[in-house]
Amino acid sequence: MSIFQSLLNNADDNVSLDSYIQKNYAQIEAFCSTRVDSQQIELDNFEQFVLFKTGVIEKLDYTKSYNRGFVYHLIDYCERFCSTSAIVQLYHIIQDNRLNIGSRLEASMLYLYNVPSNQTFVDRFNDICSKLQTAINEEDDNDKRAIASFLNYYSYVVYNTSEQFSSGVFLKYTNAIENDSFPFLKNDVIQECFALDYHKPEILYNIVQKKIDEILGRNEEFIIQPNRENDYLIESDTEYARILNNTPRTFQAIRNISVQQINQFENKDDIYYSLGRGVKILKEEAQLYSYLNSYGNMHEAKMLSALHKLPLEELEGKNIEIYDWACGQGLASIIFREFVENHNYNIYNRNIVLIEPSEIALKRAALNVRHFNGQCQIKTVLKDIDSITKEDLNCDSNSIKIHLFSNILDVEGFSMEHLISIIEQTQKGVNFFVCVSPYITDAKTARIDKFVQHFANQYNSYHLYFEIENQSGEWRNSWTRVIRLFRVNL
Ligand SMILES: C[S@@+](CC[C@H](N)C(=O)[O-])C[C@H]1O[C@@H](n2cnc3c(N)ncnc32)[C@H](O)[C@@H]1O
Repeated sequence: MSIFQSLLNNADDNVSLDSYIQKNYAQIEAFCSTRVDSQQIELDNFEQFVLFKTGVIEKLDYTKSYNRGFVYHLIDYCERFCSTSAIVQLYHIIQDNRLNIGSRLEASMLYLYNVPSNQTFVDRFNDICSKLQTAINEEDDNDKRAIASFLNYYSYVVYNTSEQFSSGVFLKYTNAIENDSFPFLKNDVIQECFALDYHKPEILYNIVQKKIDEILGRNEEFIIQPNRENDYLIESDTEYARILNNTPRTFQAIRNISVQQINQFENKDDIYYSLGRGVKILKEEAQLYSYLNSYGNMHEAKMLSALHKLPLEELEGKNIEIYDWACGQGLASIIFREFVENHNYNIYNRNIVLIEPSEIALKRAALNVRHFNGQCQIKTVLKDIDSITKEDLNCDSNSIKIHLFSNILDVEGFSMEHLISIIEQTQKGVNFFVCVSPYITDAKTARIDKFVQHFANQYNSYHLYFEIENQSGEWRNSWTRVIRLFRVNL
């Protein structure tokens, strides 16, 4: 049965719909990231569900992140297929519950909702682009979805209005390019689509829709193939290694190296922008410095606020293994190490497994970790999460495993199902999960909770120690945080 038929059948009231969403969130999210053609055949079922069940959807408990994430996916679906009838129903749910659908979908609302005349499509060009640029700069993991949304807007106008308005949008676009108003418009695919003839709406529409499918398709370039020789990569004989050697063993002292180094670069703003909010797979040493300079203090504060809730007494006298997932330069591992040392517990850290697809970051992580801990065995896994296999993670079932997920569970570029399955297959015994991310949008928080909820649903041993969510202004500085700290026996 299709996903929206099942939703329809399970939405007699808000309690049954809530429980269906909670149990099937992963499936709903997975459906929304499948190929567009398999999603499109569901359009009628989708609209029936939203139109018949608006009254039930609006009564869901929106303090729960999976319900907020659910509405995000409904809006995302509306946007992809320009379902203006469903958007009308969902709009007031967003407003009434102050849901944060993110700047990209807010941009989509500007051409799908409350459009009094065709001229409005042209008049809202700058507002749409401005929101999409914000999505790219501050919220999304890359520019793909924003570019897809922009092309969807353009093809929608060309297909559904007349030449006068298509040319209006086209002119706005050429002006914006000339004035360099929105950097994302310089993207090659956008330029190719604007080179098409808008006097032939159907042809343009079909080509642009194909391009959107390609943009939203899986990006294979991230996949790093297994290489058994990468078990112990470490930076050596570099200027950084020499400086580090004479640096005190504290996180702040290590960060200061990066602060000093980045200040010597004239183009440090460009380097900062090349980090893509810190989620890009870094390739240059200058980016490593910029990352630690810009994000180091915030990441340390978030990680410490989680570690303060870790029951260290349960680890006293025990052997532990650290798994630092998407470790970057190993910040989470060294913050953990310093935290434990400052608390005078006897905790024996035998192994640290560092997992990261950026080679330059991974080598530095190993060096940073070695600086703090000369004894432990370090294993490096140079891979993105989707490429990890069981063989990469052979753990000791007698040790307590501490999994550090520092600023990665909210990133959308990997399969949560694969991550969960690989953990379940390899991490037998007692596991603590320290999950720390920024608050970006409701959908990203729902992604983190999908991970947590899996263990909560499947294992009686699941124990939650701490959870908190702070948006900007609710915690320190303007920093945000989403923290989940739990234990489970696998
Ligand atoms: C925001 S940084 C967090 C780094 C580190 N955990 C920290 O807290 O500083 C995100 C990291 O995820 C890595 N990354 C990006 N996509 C990934 C993927 N698909 N699988 C594993 N790591 C990924 C990046 O290379 C980057 O180091």
